[in-house]
Amino acid sequence: MKSLDLVDVATKFKNVSVVSLPDGENQKSLETLQRVHDVCGEVKLGRDGLIVGLGGGATTDLAGFAAATWLRGVEWKAIPTTVAGMVDAAIGGKTGINTRHGKNLVGSFYSPSGVIVDVRFLETLSTRDINAGLAEVVKCGFIVDPSILSDLEKSLHVTAALIHKAVSVKAKVVSADFKESYGREVLNYGHTLGHAIEKNEKYALRHGEAVSIGMVFAAELSGLVSGLKPKIIDQHRDILTSLDLPITYRTTEFDSLLKLMSGDKKVQKGKLRFVTLKGLGRTSRAENVPLRHLTKAYERISS
Ligand SMILES: NC(=O)c1ccc[n+]([C@@H]2O[C@H](COP(=O)([O-])OP(=O)(O)OC[C@H]3O[C@@H](n4cnc5c(N)ncnc54)[C@H](O)[C@@H]3O)[C@@H](O)[C@H]2O)c1
Repeated sequence: MKSLDLVDVATKFKNVSVVSLPDGENQKSLETLQRVHDVCGEVKLGRDGLIVGLGGGATTDLAGFAAATWLRGVEWKAIPTTVAGMVDAAIGGKTGINTRHGKNLVGSFYSPSGVIVDVRFLETLSTRDINAGLAEVVKCGFIVDPSILSDLEKSLHVTAALIHKAVSVKAKVVSADFKESYGREVLNYGHTLGHAIEKNEKYALRHGEAVSIGMVFAAELSGLVSGLKPKIIDQHRDILTSLDLPITYRTTEFDSLLKLMSGDKKVQKGKLRFVTLKGLGRTSRAENVPLRHLTKAYERISS
C-alpha cells in the first residue's frame, strides 16, 4: 500500500481551506488558534461547517479546541497520523492549547463527531515517535487488556488490530467517566512521575518516553503498596526495553521530581495520588504513600 501524504489527503476534500500549522507543540498556541479562527472567519464557516484535524496529537488538540470555540462549537473530526494521536490524543474529547504557564492549561472537553484512523500514515513516522506512542498502548495492556501485551511480545509491528484494542480501552474508560473523575484516572498509570519527568526535562523527552519511566516506577510502587508480583514488574521492563523506551532516570533528580509531582494540576486537595496495579488488568489507587515507599521505588528505577 502507498503511504499517505498529509497535504495530498487534505486537498482531496472539496470546498476546503487548508491551514498548515507549525510543527509539534508550537502549534498549540493562542497565535495559531487565532490563525485558524481567522480562516474560519474568511470562509464564513457557519454552524453547519466542519473542522478536521489532520496530524499528530498536537494538531488534533488544536483543531478540536478551535472547533469548540468557533461560534461556541462547530462539528470536528480527527484524523490522527501518529500512534499517540490514534490511541490517545484523538480519543476522549480533551482539546486544548498551551500557555506560557504550562501545557494544556486552556482547553475544553469537546468530542469529535468521528475519528478516522489509517495506519498507513505511520509509514512515514519516525521509529522514536512510533515507540513513544506505543508506551500508551503498553499502558492500556497493563491497566485493562493484557492481550495487548501478548500481541506486542509476539511482534512489535503496529497493526490496525493493535491500535483498535488500545482505542477500545481508552474509549471504554472515557465513556464511563467523560470529565476525568475517579474512573478515568486509571489512564494516568505511569503519568504522575511521567509528567514530572517531562517537566524536569523541559519537554525534551517525548511524552511516551517519560511515561515509560513513570510506568516502571508505578510498577515498583505497586509491588510495595498493592502486592504486584515481581514477574509483572519485570514484564514492564522487558516490554518497554524491547521498544527502546527509557526505564531509568537520574538518581539525583528525586527531590525535584517530588516537588514537580506535588505541583501537578491533577493533584487533588494537595494529596499525591498514584494509580497502581494489583495484577494484570487490575488497577488500584494509592494516596498518602509513605515517603519511604516513594524513595524505595525510585531507587529501583534510578540510574
Ligand atoms: N487530548 C488528549 O487527550 C491528549 C492525550 C495525549 C496527548 N495529547 C497531546 O498530543 C500531543 C503529542 O502527540 P504526538 O506524539 O502525536 O506529537 P506531535 O503531534 O507533536 O507529532 C509528533 C511529530 O510527528 C510528526 N508527524 C505527525 N504525523 C506524522 C506522520 N504520519 N509522518 C511523519 N511525521 C509525522 C509531527 O509533525 C511532529 O513532528 C501533545 O501536545 C499532547 O499534549 C493529548
